[in-house]
Amino acid sequence: MKSIIITGANSGIGFECAMHMAKIAPNEQILLACRNVRQGNLAIQKIKKETNHQHLICLKLDLASLESVKNFKSNFLKLQNSAITALINNAGIAPNIKDTAYTKDSFEITFGTNHLGGFYLTLLLLPYIEKDGSITFTASDTHDPNAKTGVEPPNYTSTKELAFPKVKNEKAGMKLGQRRYSTSKLCNVMTAYILHNKLIDENIRVNAFDPGLTPGTGFTKNFPAPLHFVVSRIMPLFIRFKKNMNSPKTSGTRLANLTFANEFQNLDGIYFSDGEVIKSSTDSYNKSYQLDLWKSSIELTGIKQEETIIPLT
Ligand SMILES: NC(=O)c1ccc[n+]([C@@H]2O[C@H](COP(=O)([O-])OP(=O)(O)OC[C@H]3O[C@@H](n4cnc5c(N)ncnc54)[C@H](OP(=O)(O)O)[C@@H]3O)[C@@H](O)[C@H]2O)c1
Repeated sequence: MKSIIITGANSGIGFECAMHMAKIAPNEQILLACRNVRQGNLAIQKIKKETNHQHLICLKLDLASLESVKNFKSNFLKLQNSAITALINNAGIAPNIKDTAYTKDSFEITFGTNHLGGFYLTLLLLPYIEKDGSITFTASDTHDPNAKTGVEPPNYTSTKELAFPKVKNEKAGMKLGQRRYSTSKLCNVMTAYILHNKLIDENIRVNAFDPGLTPGTGFTKNFPAPLHFVVSRIMPLFIRFKKNMNSPKTSGTRLANLTFANEFQNLDGIYFSDGEVIKSSTDSYNKSYQLDLWKSSIELTGIKQEETIIPLT
């Protein structure tokens, strides 16, 4: 049985994506890649109960550790069938507004988790993704200054500077934390475009997805309690009145459809926002940023040519 892999599928948009996927992909194995396997298995119970899908499994994946990403691949290869029809890079962390933090490999945590972990996972899994398969990156409209989301816009300096910010041990604070987040989401959009270009001959679709503001997920769980309360309890009441504000169910359903549903199979190399294809930010098309992101991400993750199928140089 071929697999659809969804990262961060125990919670929020990823959970709703897995739920909808179980409805539209009855013949695929749906693999929830989660850092907390107990939470992943609880999600599986709920999805089984509602959909009766019998082929759901959870494997451990911590994107803030390159070793864990590598172990995920090894454990995946121990399964009976290693063919993948779709990979959804959805997991991510919110802006870190506390002390600057780092992944196990000493990368700044927002960039390391939201970009480098998913980048490495995707390149390691590429040899197993079927022709006609698809890869989707959950990005965010915060990557685009013109979207005027109220979140600090990105500032792409260089991949190495994002991974190893010059000032160590400073408090991230609201502005810097938000900027690191929106920049990591810009990297998600650029990665989708880079891979789209490199995978055209392989016939693998690669897209970037913006769920829009999606209150009611676990996204703000580490924010100060009053802020988390407003986002998770009050904002959902306004969903139908604001453009590009969606429920977790709407965002998860769109993510699953973009990746797997028949009517979206013609979409490739695009940015999908609020249910339609639109242009992403000017910076996301910047070829010198894309080249820097590609080259430095390869260097930082240490991926080797024999581990993937596209030329790394
Ligand atoms: N909610 C929004 O308004 C919004 C808007 C635009 C874009 N997004 C994007 O949507 C995606 C999903 O977010 P959400 O709103 O659904 O939030 P969520 O409910 O917190 O889901 C995030 C998922 O990512 C997982 N995750 C975090 N760090 C991880 C790591 N190191 N390794 C593996 N998994 C990790 C979380 O696991 P745990 O449960 O263990 O923490 C959780 O399963 C994110 O990429 C986010 O940037 C969200």
